[in-house]
Amino acid sequence: PDEELAARITASLRDIPDFPEPGVLFKDITPLIGDGALLTQTVTGLARPWHGRVDAVAGLEARGFVFGAAVAVALGVGFVPVRKAGKLPADAVGVDYALEYGTARIEAHADAVPAGARVLVVDDVLATGGTAAAACRLFEQLQAEVVGVDVVIELAALGGRERLPERAVRALLTV
Ligand code: PRP
Repeated sequence: PDEELAARITASLRDIPDFPEPGVLFKDITPLIGDGALLTQTVTGLARPWHGRVDAVAGLEARGFVFGAAVAVALGVGFVPVRKAGKLPADAVGVDYALEYGTARIEAHADAVPAGARVLVVDDVLATGGTAAAACRLFEQLQAEVVGVDVVIELAALGGRERLPERAVRALLTV
């Protein structure tokens, strides 16, 4: 069933050359989330190992919100949005991280999870791993425990897993 789901996800992905910039082959997941059966199977697959093992699911802006919120519902726990800088209305904590050119910052509300909470980080794609690694640091800044990083697609050539050596990284599809 894991291989079947991976094959279905593969078949659904739309490769967009030169997006968002020349030389990048973008994996478009909108056909996946537009297919009700496949969306359900994907969310079920992401949630499967975690029932009863997490206190909150964090989703990374923006596509991580789609999967993360659905996984939170599947697990019966709350959802925490991890946002790009300056978007959250209340007191926030942030982590800066390096991009290929320049830096980025992600933030969560300071009271998003209580100390000791078990947090599952969910996103659509693991590429370099910079965003996911920053999210892990963000929740540790809040004294929470990141129990895993769950993604739909891992782009293995970009080495994201190596950026997350201490983490339980799980991908439904590795390309
Ligand atoms: C993409 C993707 C991940 C991140 C992965 O988000 O959804 O969050 O990049 O890249 P990394 O592993 O190299 O850090 P993007 O920054 O495009 O944001 P968006 O979903 O808001 O478009």
